[in-house]
Amino acid sequence: MKFSTAILSSSLLATAVLAAPLTDKRQARNMARSSNRQSHPPYIPGTNEILHLSKTSHEQYSSNWAGAVLIGTGYKAVSAEFTVPTPKRPSGGSKHKQYCASAWVGIDGDTCSSAILQTGVDFCIQDSTVSYDAWYEWYPDYAYDFSGISISAGDVIKLSVDASSDTTGTATIENVSNGESVTHTFTGGVDGDLCEYNAEWIVEDFESGSSLVPFADFGTVTFSNAEATDGSSTVGPSGATLIDIEQNNEVLTSSSISGSSVTVEYV
Ligand SMILES: *[C@@H]1O[C@H](CO)[C@@H](O)[C@H](O)[C@H]1NC(C)=O
Repeated sequence: MKFSTAILSSSLLATAVLAAPLTDKRQARNMARSSNRQSHPPYIPGTNEILHLSKTSHEQYSSNWAGAVLIGTGYKAVSAEFTVPTPKRPSGGSKHKQYCASAWVGIDGDTCSSAILQTGVDFCIQDSTVSYDAWYEWYPDYAYDFSGISISAGDVIKLSVDASSDTTGTATIENVSNGESVTHTFTGGVDGDLCEYNAEWIVEDFESGSSLVPFADFGTVTFSNAEATDGSSTVGPSGATLIDIEQNNEVLTSSSISGSSVTVEYV
């Protein structure tokens, strides 16, 4: 009896010691979004391969990203403001399904695909119920919800990410109407290092489980005052590569840049 208890406890102990880091991480992830919501680098339409954008003015297509991506070096901060849209069920959609889209700003995720420091807002519709979530993510980890902020259609929201190093930084969402904000600080121990090669303003068809969620008709998202810090100077989106969403051979978005704004329209 004593003998087997000793064996049991030492083997439990050994298991616990070996498993602790992973288990903690999994538990944290399971508590993330019930469905393991995750942004992902852009895919080449119809594949699971990452679309590495080239620095071109021509529009390029992916199955999950629309918007503008700056390609360069030394991007340490990205921000923009946008008005939260009311998502609609796409034409031909089912009222039994939930349709979503997300607007976010981020660093990396394209020509650097090892990490994305990002923050944004998801908008979803099922039948006539609309819901919103504000989140932060350091890809390849999942997204985590901000608490203490409850988003509604028409809110003017400022999104910003700041990298203090390739493994630390902050994600902030501010309500521009009243100045209130929520911030998450990443203090290291992240799953991937930033390269500071990309600054982007994106509307995404994000993943839940391991597939893209049915994509909502989000109307129009305009990222205004779109800025990135590149070394010591602040740059706008001009010169960014445009990307649009194509699914099942259909182009679903139209992105454009005008002055300091990036506009993504559902078409
Ligand atoms: C933003 O502020 C406005 C004005 O106080 C308020 O009505 C709205 O609910 C706030 N939204 C968020 C996301 O905090």
